[in-house]
Amino acid sequence: MIEGKKVLTGVKPTGTPHLGNYLGAIRPAIAMGEKAARHIMFIADYHAINAEKDPAVLNQKIKEVACSYLAGGLDPKKSIFYRQSDIVEIPEITTILYAYTPKGLMNKSHAYKAQVDKNREAGKPDDDGINMGLYTYPTLMAADILSFDTEVVPVGRDQVQHVEIARDIAGAINAHYGRDLLVLPEFYIDENVAVVPGVDGRKMSKSYGNVIPLFADDAAIKKAIFSIKTDSRPMEEPKDPEEILVYQIYKSIASPAELQEMGDGLRQGKLGYGHIKNMLLDRVLKEISQAREKYNYYMAHFNEVEEMLAEGAAKARPLAQQTLKRLKDAVFGR
Ligand code: TRP
Repeated sequence: MIEGKKVLTGVKPTGTPHLGNYLGAIRPAIAMGEKAARHIMFIADYHAINAEKDPAVLNQKIKEVACSYLAGGLDPKKSIFYRQSDIVEIPEITTILYAYTPKGLMNKSHAYKAQVDKNREAGKPDDDGINMGLYTYPTLMAADILSFDTEVVPVGRDQVQHVEIARDIAGAINAHYGRDLLVLPEFYIDENVAVVPGVDGRKMSKSYGNVIPLFADDAAIKKAIFSIKTDSRPMEEPKDPEEILVYQIYKSIASPAELQEMGDGLRQGKLGYGHIKNMLLDRVLKEISQAREKYNYYMAHFNEVEEMLAEGAAKARPLAQQTLKRLKDAVFGR
């Protein structure tokens, strides 16, 4: 599905990533860079301004997300890595796409509908606090994808609709002009990507306050891991590992042999909760200590990251320029 394809991944700058982001998004995205014929990885900063209006906060979040991907092993030589706002062709292409985007399609977009639902629950007018950036979000995302002749977009379930909208818009344009001006993208859901539970058993998410931090110091990571929910059964009591939250989290990071060891220990009543928490802690630290060093380095030397992003934009822009020219030639009959 990914092999030999033109793949594009976008990430919104939402702040310091946690273990769930690392295992569920960062690591898989980096693996794409190895497999795809061409991999594009970008920071969706224009998408972020719909919600984040404080420049200092936004800037910090963009830095954090850029450094996280580099720390996780993203190789800017293998993946074209840029900031969306550095590619001026994207908003220009968005403008052309608007003319082929039915308003009704935007009305149906989940991101917009979710906000309307929230307003209704709060007894506010439907469109309270909703700006056109949020409303037309899927068209900008379509431009992100279509600008680069993307064949495959790896996504979580919540983004499937957006890729389908991009496909619909591209299809409408191709049909109107009677030729393949735009490549129809497909979404790809990797079933093997871990949805990592948080310390309370719900999906790990900053909004639930149940995260295991990634680039924090050892003490903070230890504190989070030791707060993972357990019960009061004694160590000797044989347990089904699948019922144990620590084991569930371990699953998404441990090797099969490591997992077997913890599973056997629980089934045989030879490992207590303290033991398995320490095993998880060791494994997490082993996984991230190198990445954490890199993260801290890049955060302190962000000028180097700026250079990488500029190089990425220099590679991406000529690609988007070709698409823009193709579209303008068709639209204006040149
Ligand atoms: N909407 C995506 C998210 O919220 C981010 C994104 C923006 C994106 N443009 C994209 C993802 C293009 C894939 C392709 O996670």
